Amino acid sequence: MQAVKILQHGDTDVIEYGEYPDPEVGRDEVLVDIKAAALNHLDIWTRRGLPMLDLEMPHIPGSDGAGVVVETGVDVTRFEEGDHVAVSAGVGDLRMDDPTLDPNFHIIGEHVPGVHSEYTAISEDNLIPVPEHVDWEVAGSCSLVFQTAWRMLIERAELKPDEKVLVLGASGGVGHAALQIADYAGAEVYATGSTEEKLQYAEEHGADYVCNYEEENFAKWVRAETDGAGVDVVVEHVGAPTWRDSIKSLAKGGRLVTCGGTGGGNPETDIPRIFWNQLEIIGSTMATPEQVDDVLELVWDGTFEPAIRDVLPMSETARAHEILENREGFGKVVVRPDSELK
Ligand SMILES: NC(=O)c1ccc[n+]([C@@H]2O[C@H](COP(=O)([O-])OP(=O)(O)OC[C@H]3O[C@@H](n4cnc5c(N)ncnc54)[C@H](OP(=O)(O)O)[C@@H]3O)[C@@H](O)[C@H]2O)c1
Repeated sequence: MQAVKILQHGDTDVIEYGEYPDPEVGRDEVLVDIKAAALNHLDIWTRRGLPMLDLEMPHIPGSDGAGVVVETGVDVTRFEEGDHVAVSAGVGDLRMDDPTLDPNFHIIGEHVPGVHSEYTAISEDNLIPVPEHVDWEVAGSCSLVFQTAWRMLIERAELKPDEKVLVLGASGGVGHAALQIADYAGAEVYATGSTEEKLQYAEEHGADYVCNYEEENFAKWVRAETDGAGVDVVVEHVGAPTWRDSIKSLAKGGRLVTCGGTGGGNPETDIPRIFWNQLEIIGSTMATPEQVDDVLELVWDGTFEPAIRDVLPMSETARAHEILENREGFGKVVVRPDSELK
């Protein structure tokens, strides 16, 4: 089969699309004919290399994908040939109440081979049924970011209707999912972005108030827009460049929920403001299977929709990485096997 391959850690020139051995289907695995897949910022980290990440090369990247079941292992009970499925990339001990807290929790595409290939063999536990009316590009691009943003806002930050939420990086995968979820939860949504075009999209996806942080300080903007009070929740994933202003944007008793540090993972912080304003700093990673089902149900019924920035053949995955790294556009970058686009 044809697959995207990371030959070694490095810049985009380490990405190749070419022949790779066909997957063998294990007893509890399902062979999926991938129709569409999507990039996450995680694919950039994995390509560049992370401490503690020891991958066998070449590595097939990719944590998001969707397609048709073409074969099932002998122990598979939930799927049969012809079913439409999407990948949910978190792998944890399902006997635990919260498998994301498993000490051995890991992510398909990051710690083990991913799904950016024509076919993938994957445990049935990591597949979600997709109704047939759902478009492949939607099914292949929603799972990771919508589950992450859902858990951040609904479970970890316990967002309530009428609260004020600030979503940073609203144009990114997590950001644009968070906008939609916060709006759905009945919150007042504040969003930041680096261009007017991204902010216009943010408004179309649920933002009530928007700020171009390249032109004004977003913490001052939040104070001005909220009569000096600040917001109840900040959705953080940018890290070092925004951390202090995120803390400054919070109202007394506010919650900062973070899933990432795209711009740097070790920011200067503000301890006096954290204790004096009695703030909560909350970490969040991926989601439990129940949370994944809850949020994807709302994608399948059209309540939420991933915005698609671009659709590229998998042979142009290097370009897909550049789009994310250069922060071009709004939403998700989809890649499809070249054979699907002929
Ligand atoms: N823990 C988890 O379970 C989990 C799950 C998903 C993602 N994450 C993490 O969350 C972060 C976002 O992921 P994503 O897939 O949504 O990324 P993405 O699609 O690439 O979006 C990142 C957004 O952040 C904004 N940004 C602001 N400052 C930035 C900077 N210095 N460098 C890069 N971008 C900057 C950009 O918007 P503007 O250009 O408008 O500022 C960009 O659209 C990543 O760090 C990822 O690893 C964690």
